[in-house]
Formats: sequence, C-alpha cells, structure tokens
Amino acid sequence: MKFLTSFRRHSIARPALLILALVVIGLGYAGVNPQRSSAETEMTQQIEEGKALFDLTCSSCHGLGAEGTSQGPSLIGVGAASVDFQMGTGRMPAARQEAQLPARKVNYTQEQIDSVGAYIASLAPGPAVPKKEQYSPEGLTEEEIARGGALFRANCSACHGIVGGGGAMPNGEYAPSLVNTDEAHIWEAVRTGPQQMPTFSQKVMPDQSVREIIGYLDEAHEQPNYGGLTMGEAGPVSEGFWIFIVGIGGLAIVATWIAKKGARAR
Ligand code: HEC
Ligand code: HEC
Repeated sequence: MKFLTSFRRHSIARPALLILALVVIGLGYAGVNPQRSSAETEMTQQIEEGKALFDLTCSSCHGLGAEGTSQGPSLIGVGAASVDFQMGTGRMPAARQEAQLPARKVNYTQEQIDSVGAYIASLAPGPAVPKKEQYSPEGLTEEEIARGGALFRANCSACHGIVGGGGAMPNGEYAPSLVNTDEAHIWEAVRTGPQQMPTFSQKVMPDQSVREIIGYLDEAHEQPNYGGLTMGEAGPVSEGFWIFIVGIGGLAIVATWIAKKGARAR
C-alpha cells in the first residue's frame, strides 16, 4: 500500500497508466479484430475478382459499371440472385442477341459466379442468393407438398404446364421445362422473374410457399410415368389438345351411341 500511494504521487504515474490502458485496449482489439478484417479483405478481394471477370465478359453488353448499353439492360439493383440464376443456368454471358436466351452449358465455376454476384450486389442492394433453408423442400410434410401442387397449378402451370414440363407462349417464346432445374435456381427465377416470367415478391409468395412448390416439382419429376402416354408433357397446348381429343371424342361416341339406341327404341 505504501508503494502504491507513493507511486500515485510520482510524476510519471499518470502517463504510465495511460500507456498501460492503451496497451490493454490495443491487445484486446488485436485479439478480436484479425478475424473480422480478414473476412473483410476476403470480401473486397471477391468483389475485385468479380469486377475483373465482369469487365472482361459482361461489360460489352452491360457496360463497364453495369449501367447497361443498347446491347443489354442495367444490372444495378438486380442482386446476386439474378446473377446466380443467369450465369448458373448458362444463360449469361449471352453469345448474341436472340429472341430468348436458352439455358446452356455453364462454363464458369460457382466461385466465379459468386464473385460476379458479389460485385453486382456491391453496386446496389437486390435479392441475395438464397440460403438452403429458404428453398430446400427437406422436411416438408405430404400435406405441404400437396399445397405446393395447388400453388404451382394456380401460379405457374399456365405457362410451364401442369407438371412443369414447359409450354409454348405467344410470340414464339416458351416457358422452359423445370424438370432439370436446380432447387436454388427455381427460387431465384421466382424472385427475379427472368424475361416474360412475372416476379413473385416475398409478400405475394413467401419462402415457405416456394419451398412447397419445389417439393411438389421434385416429387412430380421423381415419379415414373405410368403407362406409355405422357401427353408429351409439352405444356398447356398439348395437354389441351389431348383433353379435346379424349374428352370431346368420348362425348361424340356416347352421343352417337345414345342416338342409335334411341332410334332402335323407337
Ligand atoms: C451479348 C450481350 C450480353 C453479354 C455478353 C452478357 N449479357 Fe447479360 N443480358 C443481356 C441481355 C440482352 C439481357 C436481357 C434479356 C434477358 O433477360 O435474357 C441480359 C440480362 C442479364 C441479367 C438479368 C437482369 C435482370 O433484370 O434480372 C443478368 C443478371 C445478366 N444479364 C448478367 C450477365 C453477366 C453476369 C454477364 C457476364 C458473365 C452477362 N450478363 C453477359 C446481354 C448480355
Ligand atoms: C407468364 C408466364 C410464366 C409464369 C406464370 C411463370 N413462368 Fe417461369 N418462366 C417463364 C419464362 C418465359 C421463362 C424463361 C425465361 C428465360 O429464359 O429467361 C421462365 C423460366 C423459369 C425457370 C427457369 C428454368 C430453367 O430454364 O432452368 C424457372 C425455375 C421457373 N420459370 C419457375 C416458375 C415458377 C415456380 C412459377 C410459378 C411460381 C413460374 N415460373 C411462373 C414464364 C412463366
């Protein structure tokens, strides 16, 4: 105690305490910070890589700052989800102007796609790439999957066909088959509305409903086709055609039969 009181009276006491406090704070900060700052540099590095790839392969159509040109729309605010969908299904980079850009072979790694997505997301906020629990139908009950079927028939089948086999649309366009589409890409298509497809917001269609639809599609496409007839699974046009032939045809046969029977009865 005697030592402490005499120390406190000493002229270097205050500066010494100040330095000690700074050292303690500094050590504490160094202990907490390295992780955060390395995550930050990792992120800036990812964005820089994304920008480099974008400048090289996308800017000819979308502009050097992604602000758009006469060859392609602005990507500011479309979000990483749109990039992941467009690149992840091989639609982008587009080779040339076409009426409708089809899904193609993907020539980029997921890492490259993520970096371009991070770059686009750094320009302005937009829908992010979904986490697994947002789209995965894992753990859904039969009832929820059945509801997914009802949701799909109400919101999607007009274009994509009753079981998502795809269908023709006006002006020579088409809604593609969903048989081979990744679960995450389905979520992204619903949220970003590519081309003629409407965008379904979180408010209109919560993640739970999207999961149910994905669950329904998974189940529908796992099922083998019983019997030889799939009706082509080519969407509403051919499905309508078959209903016409079988339905109206059946009615015609019944009508003829009744007419014949009636004539005999007379
Ligand atoms: C040859 C021109 C061309 C090139 C190259 C190109 N795009 Fe596109 N991109 C387009 C056109 C045209 C559209 C709009 C039509 C469409 O949606 O299919 C589009 C649409 C998009 C969209 C959808 C925007 C939205 O509204 O959601 C994204 C995302 C996108 N491109 C990303 C990319 C990325 C990333 C690259 C590079 C890897 C790229 N594009 C290269 C022409 C191009
Ligand atoms: C008005 C017609 C229309 C409706 C309604 C519609 N879509 Fe689409 N959808 C399209 C068109 C057109 C495309 C192709 C867009 C493109 O190629 O860029 C598409 C593309 C898709 C794709 C991408 C498939 C691939 O090629 O990998 C998915 C997934 C999808 N739609 C899911 C849905 C779901 C789920 C719903 C209902 C919630 C829905 N769509 C409602 C027209 C529609």
